[in-house]
Amino acid sequence: MKIGLDDVVAAETALSHVDGEAGRLIIRGHDLEELAGRVSYEEAVAILWDGLVPGSSDDLRARFGAARVRAFGHLAGLGPQLGGLTPVEGMRLLLSGLPDVDEDPAALAVGGAAVAAAMAVRGARGLAAVAPDPSAGHAADLLRMLRDASADAGEAAGLDTYLVTVLDHGLNASTFTARVVASTEAGILSAVVAGLCALKGPLHGGAPGPVLDMLDAIGLAENAEPWLDDAIGRGERLMGFGHRIYRVRDPRADVLKAAAGKLKGRENRIAFAEAVEKAALTVLERRKPGRRLDTNVEFYTALLLEALGIPREGFTPLFGAGRTGGWVAHAVEQVKTGRIIRPQSRYVGPWPAEAA
Ligand code: ACO
Repeated sequence: MKIGLDDVVAAETALSHVDGEAGRLIIRGHDLEELAGRVSYEEAVAILWDGLVPGSSDDLRARFGAARVRAFGHLAGLGPQLGGLTPVEGMRLLLSGLPDVDEDPAALAVGGAAVAAAMAVRGARGLAAVAPDPSAGHAADLLRMLRDASADAGEAAGLDTYLVTVLDHGLNASTFTARVVASTEAGILSAVVAGLCALKGPLHGGAPGPVLDMLDAIGLAENAEPWLDDAIGRGERLMGFGHRIYRVRDPRADVLKAAAGKLKGRENRIAFAEAVEKAALTVLERRKPGRRLDTNVEFYTALLLEALGIPREGFTPLFGAGRTGGWVAHAVEQVKTGRIIRPQSRYVGPWPAEAA
């Protein structure tokens, strides 16, 4: 028995493959680098959903737009309930308000996740929800609903890169959770709500904000090495480094770094982050020899989302909005197996006294 199910194969999938030794992420026959920064979220989802949910990228663009409007109709009245919740808790509340039965549940999940993420981030700050624009691209509209200001083409492309980068990643904890729920035929929206619940934990998608907290605490590039060395000395982990599967650099780090570097006025911030990254890798090599710790997805996620004007407590909802396309694909693929996921446990509790 393996307590964390490490190395246990629990599903066959044609969707994505993570090669931790080679630092390679394959999405439906494409290396991540072929897609991220080159195609829109709708195009990447069309590739991922091929054969599972019909629709070309143009078709999906229109369906996601219509779904954002439908979702907003279901959710707009829930705005007052968001006060006192963190953005990811608010997103969980909102997604639960969407029906499993819909004319296009796969699109409703993706459109609904964008509406819910934007509403929840704004709601946590006491700001009113911004209605979707169905004619806009998915990433551009998500950014507009979040900031209440139109995104320029460069910003929309930056968010597209992020959403494509996090679209799917093998059988991670939230995707497995979504597949378990889908296997009971509970419905796509229920599978997505469950996926978000698993994602929000700090061991999965709940910790990208702390990368920025670390950069704030370091302050200046020349402080990086002593600050990071002290942190390791205190037994702390360096945020944005290390990964359970990747033993080399996470391939998502470079595409996100490139996307952050394309945004206007970010040169100094990226140069500072690069200096911190270089110092961190030096310190990790010295302090943790042989552990093969490298930069993970969160380090440059933080830089990119910060550059797009997204508050750090909104990073996990954005991750959920991007990953929803993956959860939907896995839910549909799981239902097609026609088999409920129902593993065994080994009983180690007390037995009843034998009847006299
Ligand atoms: N900083 C310092 N040391 C580290 C780090 C780190 N970021 N990551 C791992 N280590 C050390 C551990 O202390 C351990 O050292 P030891 O053998 O001397 O005790 C060794 O490397 C192996 O660590 P494990 O705990 O076995 O690594 P695991 O695979 O369980 O952890 C994890 C992966 C949780 C991502 C870890 O690297 C970490 O906490 N990183 C920092 C937080 C972070 O960036 N999270 C986002 C990950 S990306 C994602 O999930 C979407």
